[in-house]
Amino acid sequence: MDAVRIYGGNCLSGQTKIQGSKNASLPILAATLLIDGTCEIVNCPDISDVYHMLRLLESLGCRVCRRADVIRIDTCGVAECDMPADSVGVMRSSIMLLGALLARMGEVAMEYPGGCVIGKRPIDLHLQALRRMGVEITEGPEEFCARAWRLHGAVHELPFVSVGVTENLILAAVLAEGETVIHPAAREPEIQALCEFLVSAGGKISGVGTDRLVIRGVKKLYPVRFCVPADRIVAGTWLAACLCAGGRVFLEDAPCGQMESVLACAEKLGGRLSPSPEGLLVEGRACKGLKKDLVTAVYPGFPTDLQSLFMAAIAFSGQDGRIVETVFENRFRIVPELLKMGADIRVQGNCACIRGNRPLCNTIVEAKELRGGAALVVAALAAEGTGIVTNRHYIDRGYEDITRSLRDLGAEIELA
Ligand code: UD1
Repeated sequence: MDAVRIYGGNCLSGQTKIQGSKNASLPILAATLLIDGTCEIVNCPDISDVYHMLRLLESLGCRVCRRADVIRIDTCGVAECDMPADSVGVMRSSIMLLGALLARMGEVAMEYPGGCVIGKRPIDLHLQALRRMGVEITEGPEEFCARAWRLHGAVHELPFVSVGVTENLILAAVLAEGETVIHPAAREPEIQALCEFLVSAGGKISGVGTDRLVIRGVKKLYPVRFCVPADRIVAGTWLAACLCAGGRVFLEDAPCGQMESVLACAEKLGGRLSPSPEGLLVEGRACKGLKKDLVTAVYPGFPTDLQSLFMAAIAFSGQDGRIVETVFENRFRIVPELLKMGADIRVQGNCACIRGNRPLCNTIVEAKELRGGAALVVAALAAEGTGIVTNRHYIDRGYEDITRSLRDLGAEIELA
């Protein structure tokens, strides 16, 4: 069955290790296409999005071998520039392959990418920016073709910050002729990881970690072994679980340095946190009001990926709170499901008002996208009775095994 069963109402207690970052792994896997030879990517999470990315790489001619958490990718046989529609359709990150494949093959034909339905998620900015680098693009209703006889550097003054566009341009620029400037570049830690991977392979990138990246094209990159950093969103998920259900948990390897806005919000809600280089100790539960709106923003602001998880935490806090979503216009899809559990939440435009004064009761709810699905599981841990979250496949896109991790933290939860 494609569901999770949760026996709610118990405090959490235990320890779990944070898996490697999904949003860092995917562009790094795409980036291996820029390197002739075999790269080893360590600490890649065992999740369905990574599986789909590896399938895409195989369909292009890569040889992929996975042993435990090490993935070896040999790109010597890459000969294809058409991507299978089924994998492109399920995963937004397939767009990452556009920049990389253009650099490698000079030509790409693909369907428009899929991913979580959390907003319009167009790719107009990707295409517009790549055109500036010498790419000719023909757009059809369902698929598009991109061709570049010679990729050249360009100055990109972007209208807004986009994680995906920044990554795609980095991938297109690293082997292009001349210099590329990306401004404002997204500063998410996953972009820094991509840059570190490329620099370790011989790429020339300066301004890493700032909103202005300068990439000087090089002729060749060399095979490397690279370790993917821990997933700050997964760490934030278990943090939210403890805020909802209460208890004392240790999140081994949680990248606390990348979680400032999240930790600050958790503390305002009443969580007691002890960050350290080894991880994050979380004690207590959400019991205080936020005072100010929780506003999602690009990094280092509060991540949109944790918005629904903290909505669940506010719903259990006994206090009222407001969330303003500024990144994706359709990221309140969890609300009707939380209402089924008895929550009191009103949505107006990009703002959700949560009245945290009700007990929540478990029932059958439906995951509609990755993070919202995880948030429903987290809410069910704290709600009374037995709950079912259906459509587990959305959750599997980003969590290695949400039932195992939460059982490590003392939850009563099983696949259903
Ligand atoms: C990435 C993350 C996702 C995260 C998001 C924001 C990955 C695999 N996914 O998604 O988990 O929630 O960053 O932190 O890393 N936009 C356009 N035109 C474009 C591109 C984007 O209008 O061509 C808009 C989007 O609709 C959205 C905003 O820009 O409203 C930001 O999106 P973007 O930063 O590109 O997110 P993703 O890269 O899709």
